[in-house]
Amino acid sequence: MKKLYVILALALVTVMAFSIKITMTSGGVGKELEVLKKQIAMFEQIYPNIKVEIIPMPDSSTQRHDLYVTYFAAQQTDPDVLMLDVIWPAEFAPFLEDLTKYKDYFALDRFLPGTVKSVTVNGKIVAIPWFTDAGLLYYRKDLLKKYGYDHPPRTWDELVEMAQKISKAEGIEGFVWQGAKYEGLVCDFTEYLWSFGGDVLDDHGKVIIDKNDAAVKALQFMKDLIYKYKISPEGVTTYMEEDARRIFQNGKAVFMRNWPYAWSLLNSDDSPVKGKVGVEPLPAGPGGRRAATLGGWVLGINKYSPKAEKDAAIKLIRFLTSYHQQLYKAVNAGQNPTRKFVYQDSSLAEAAPFMVKLFDVFINALPRPRVANYTDVSDIIQRYAHAVLTNQMSSQEAVKKMASELRFTLGQ
Ligand code: GLC
Repeated sequence: MKKLYVILALALVTVMAFSIKITMTSGGVGKELEVLKKQIAMFEQIYPNIKVEIIPMPDSSTQRHDLYVTYFAAQQTDPDVLMLDVIWPAEFAPFLEDLTKYKDYFALDRFLPGTVKSVTVNGKIVAIPWFTDAGLLYYRKDLLKKYGYDHPPRTWDELVEMAQKISKAEGIEGFVWQGAKYEGLVCDFTEYLWSFGGDVLDDHGKVIIDKNDAAVKALQFMKDLIYKYKISPEGVTTYMEEDARRIFQNGKAVFMRNWPYAWSLLNSDDSPVKGKVGVEPLPAGPGGRRAATLGGWVLGINKYSPKAEKDAAIKLIRFLTSYHQQLYKAVNAGQNPTRKFVYQDSSLAEAAPFMVKLFDVFINALPRPRVANYTDVSDIIQRYAHAVLTNQMSSQEAVKKMASELRFTLGQ
């Protein structure tokens, strides 16, 4: 008996000596944290000597960004695995482990090419695409039918007309979206901008936001949604994704702009709108263009982490971005796979039919400006767009100032 105890104690000491703890940041929007915890439990069963501790992050991408800046500035060895917004790889590349030699290990040739492009900085792979996002229009199928509409809005004008009529009659909001001063506002704004026929930069990186009147019209339209058409509440200027989602899920709005993650929550058993929601591409602007902003998150490794932790981190990232785990995440958290073949899986079509039906929207979603100082660009857009939405400035003046600050920041 005594001998057995000694053997057991020795075994325990050995496991402890060889076990390693790594840390990983995660957001908590919708079901993502809950689902990640389950995935980590599966991973730890396969790799009993690796323990993963999750560091929860704020919902706002802008706030997460600022936290990462402080981590990297202090050359912290934690977190080891970083959940990075698709707009950051260029800026954070100097602080991320170069994963180029692991291209095959991660099977990057099986990923959607656009997502691989977003993690490639100067020819180097600095992170692995985890899930991809595109802005979508959620609408109440039952209410549209009740008021005699046989199709969801194809243009912004149609959306205004439907939202006004239904919201008045039902005593609910017409359209909720992300109007707080943070990264989400940039995503919403660029969708209007593109659909009205404009852009922030041209293909050579030159500022063209004031080249035509699209930006002025787009901003004016966003403002009109609140004060003129009165289909969006004034509070929308403080909303992030989850604020909009909660209102819509409680049956208090006809339309919502949001990312794919909202789908699984809207259709969960306790959701008042379960089975009543449709998903479509965002409506077209006057020029007939429909546009969605490309979003998504990628996983990178902290360059300052010790070697053994980096090795464990590589295993964790491969696990989380594998076919089965991407499918698991898509089905349970409603976050879109970055691997092509997962879209052909019948269980995805069953759990989130829109992911398959709107595949083109996901692969054609448009990226925000790809520049290393994107954060400065975003900050300028956020400030002026928000000033317009809160009635501090006219759209004309805002676009003029936006354009000149963008030119200054980008050295043009
Ligand atoms: C989503 C997108 C991300 C975007 C953010 C803005 O998380 O995936 O790319 O920056 O929303 O709120």
